[in-house]
Formats: sequence, structure tokens, C-alpha cells
Amino acid sequence: MKFFVDTADVAEIRDLLDSGLVDGVTTNPSLIMKSGRDFFEVIAEICEMVPGPVSAEVAATTVDGMLAEAAKLTPIAPNVTIKVPLTWDGLKATRRLSAEGVKVNVTLCFSAAQALLAAKAGASFISPFVGRLDDIGVDGLELISDICQIYAQYESIRTEVLVASVRTPGHVIEAAKMGAHVATLPPGVLRGLALHPLTDKGLAAFLKDWEATGQKIV
Ligand code: G3P
Repeated sequence: MKFFVDTADVAEIRDLLDSGLVDGVTTNPSLIMKSGRDFFEVIAEICEMVPGPVSAEVAATTVDGMLAEAAKLTPIAPNVTIKVPLTWDGLKATRRLSAEGVKVNVTLCFSAAQALLAAKAGASFISPFVGRLDDIGVDGLELISDICQIYAQYESIRTEVLVASVRTPGHVIEAAKMGAHVATLPPGVLRGLALHPLTDKGLAAFLKDWEATGQKIV
């Protein structure tokens, strides 16, 4: 499973990149607002730091507007991925952009029918929002399961399932069991994947016992 970081906070990205476990970054207009940074500048800085795909979302809602904005964003760096909302115009824009070889991440996906259309439009990534479905009492992971099952039926579908709106390590594990290709994680959720109380307890015991030996390795 590939791990993307869902943030425009450059300091967080730099720290997590150092682990060697980060494969890309996703941003959205809310994350850009939260960063307080100029959109083009922060995307350029992230693209320079991150070897993998960096999603930069359009603000336009019409096909022509999305295409015009994509034309401004793609030259920022080779690893820019254009993020468009899953609307009829977003699907039309995806079809046009993917035909030109531009990588598109179709976002705000909340149904398998939407995901099927995004794959048909040639999206590189589909971003189903698990957490926001959970928030309204709908099983977000069931959507991931449905999309993975549908996509697996067609060799022609090359769209990668990019699990988004991830709230817990459980979301990650269950999505990985389903074969989702990517999970985009808030920095805290990514760091949280490594944590377990028994690991902390066991390490403390090892260190205490090692200290009792009075020995040193270096
Ligand atoms: O950036 C896309 C998605 O991961 C945002 O999820 O629900 O935490 O805003 P959310």
C-alpha cells in the first residue's frame, strides 16, 4: 500500500519524508487555506521535496475553468496531479486531461457509481472519503470494498483507489485488506500507525534490563 500525506504543512511533510515511508502528498483547498501559504508556492515547494505524486485541486467548477486552471498547475512540476471534484464537469475535465497524459485525482467520491465513472474517464486516482461517510452513519469502508471489487473485474481499469478522509489506523488496515492502492493520511494518523502500548512497555523493560547488565554496545 502506498502512503500519501494529506496536508500542505511543509514542516510536517519534511519530517515524515525523512522516514522514507511517504510516497506522495494530497492537498485540497481547505488544507491550502490552513497552511496560510500561496497556493502555487506551497505546491512547488512540496513537489520539490516529494518524489511522488502531489495533488493540487482546482477551484473552478466548469470544464473550461478546470482545464484553464489545470493548464496553470501542471507546469509547476512533473509530479503535480490535478485534483478535480466528482461532478459531471469534473468527469468531462478528467476525460480531456487524461487523454492528454495529465494525471488526475478525482476527489469527493462517495459512491461506487461515481468511482466507476471516474475510472471510465481515465482518472489516475479515485479518492473515496471514508471518514465523511462514517460521520453520517454510512460505512465508508464498504464503499472501498465495493470500488476495489468493481475495479478488479476490469483489466482496462488502471485507476488507483486512493483512500481519503482517513481517521484511524483501522481505516488503513481494513482498506489494505481490500487491496486499496493508496491511503492518504493526516500526519497524526500516519505517525499513529507505528504506535502500540505493548511496544512501549516491552521496550522500557528491555532497556531497564540492558542497563542492569552494565554493558555498552558502542
Ligand atoms: O484531502 C482529501 C481528504 O482526505 C480530506 O478528508 O474528511 O479529513 O477533510 P477530511
